[in-house]
Amino acid sequence: MELFEAIKNRRSIRRYKSDAVDDKKIEAILEAGRWAPSWSNTQCWRFIVVRDPAIRAKVAESLMKIKLPDREIDNPATKALNTVPVLIVVCAETGKSGLKPGPGGGTGEYVTDKGDWFMFDAALAVQNMVLAAHALGLGTVIIGAFDAKKVEQALGVPKGYRVVTFFPVGVPDQEAKVPPRKELAEIVTKDEWRK
Ligand SMILES: Cc1cc2nc3c(=O)[nH]c(=O)nc-3n(C[C@H](O)[C@H](O)[C@H](O)COP(=O)(O)O)c2cc1C
Repeated sequence: MELFEAIKNRRSIRRYKSDAVDDKKIEAILEAGRWAPSWSNTQCWRFIVVRDPAIRAKVAESLMKIKLPDREIDNPATKALNTVPVLIVVCAETGKSGLKPGPGGGTGEYVTDKGDWFMFDAALAVQNMVLAAHALGLGTVIIGAFDAKKVEQALGVPKGYRVVTFFPVGVPDQEAKVPPRKELAEIVTKDEWRK
């Protein structure tokens, strides 16, 4: 699949067939994550492949309700998480990315006023992985509205690591609608910031 086509046509998929996804495809997706760029090549990420339905159910329990002005609704990915065969959970070691270099690793001091870059590094790996899945004919949806502490406990993630996000991987069972994007004219200016 051509890169620009993959970037443009990837969609968040929230309905999946129960078809199995073989290990070779999951490995190809993880490989795409492994090659993402990261702060000073820190690669602070760790990926957990969840296939066990009982563990997957525990991860699904971490989904947060979404508060609308008049009511609360389930996270729109809730059904997907209970049917999809595989989840990839993306963790990152904190206190490693964005640090000033020093002997044996970072000095403990951050280079920039943004502090720890672990979310950014993990996101780059995630984007590689969801695009790779799409190129293999598989669907994904990135999950942000969840209680990370619950997932960390369910999967035994040690202190010093955070669960950044997770995403199901499965055979799509829907033609997802295309959420519109802002036009370039709305988001790009020349040479300096302009309204
Ligand atoms: C950081 C992040 C968090 C997200 N969290 C959720 C989520 O909790 N539940 C969900 O159904 N979709 C979630 N999404 C998917 C977005 O809703 C989706 O990417 C956006 O609406 C654009 O649609 P598209 O991915 O089909 O282009 C998340 C996406 C990102 C990047």
